[in-house]
Amino acid sequence: MSGESWRQRLLSPEDPVEIMKQKAALRALEQVRSGMKLGLGTGSTARYFVDGVGAQVAEGLEVVCVPTSEATRQQAESLNIPLAELGDLQRLDLTVDGADEMDAALRLVKGGGGALLREKIVAAASDAMIVIADDSKMVDQLGAFALPVEVNMFAHQATASAIADALHATGHAGPMSLRGGDSPFVTDGGHYLYDCALGTINDAEALASALLAVPGVVEHGLFLGYATAAVLAGTDGLQEVGTL
Ligand code: 5RP
Repeated sequence: MSGESWRQRLLSPEDPVEIMKQKAALRALEQVRSGMKLGLGTGSTARYFVDGVGAQVAEGLEVVCVPTSEATRQQAESLNIPLAELGDLQRLDLTVDGADEMDAALRLVKGGGGALLREKIVAAASDAMIVIADDSKMVDQLGAFALPVEVNMFAHQATASAIADALHATGHAGPMSLRGGDSPFVTDGGHYLYDCALGTINDAEALASALLAVPGVVEHGLFLGYATAAVLAGTDGLQEVGTL
């Protein structure tokens, strides 16, 4: 099978937004070389990247990968992508992942798919992180997407009150909701998520520090200083931010 044929196979012509996501994923895939250790992101855009890695592995690409969620692990296993534990590899060459929001400084909001904890651990262990998305994810100011905060299940309502105080103390406000409501969503790590609808995030660094200082907060969806580049796909083509 030629390289071109699997590219064509991945580009399904049905939905323009899906085509954009696929194109962003395929551009990131061009950065992958044999011998690399890769982090595999989570979500509908990262899924296309994993599909592409799988197609290239079938053609002889030699990589070892760390998935950022059980969903991505299942997809990678189904494609016979070699997997390893991050604890054994320690460092990765590159992680490719999606985002819920991104600003011009490559600061991200992630966690819409519920995988932010493993995504951040994997991103932090990576020499480079490429964000892939359709261009609707690019924003002037972060915050329109509700910020996910992962919390320990123990006394999570008390943790939620402390999170509200931390939001207030850093000049942020907005309704918070337990993801899943009466049937709470449980993350791969066995935690709950609170989604904080802030509207705008005025001071992402201060907010990130304040949230992490709350006992019971496991991690939050602000990814500050992790992404090194982004590929954003729009109707008029690809836009790259940073250096791939
Ligand atoms: C999962 C994430 C995803 O990367 C984010 O939600 C983007 O997903 P999609 O590509 O489906 O829009 O952070 O926790």
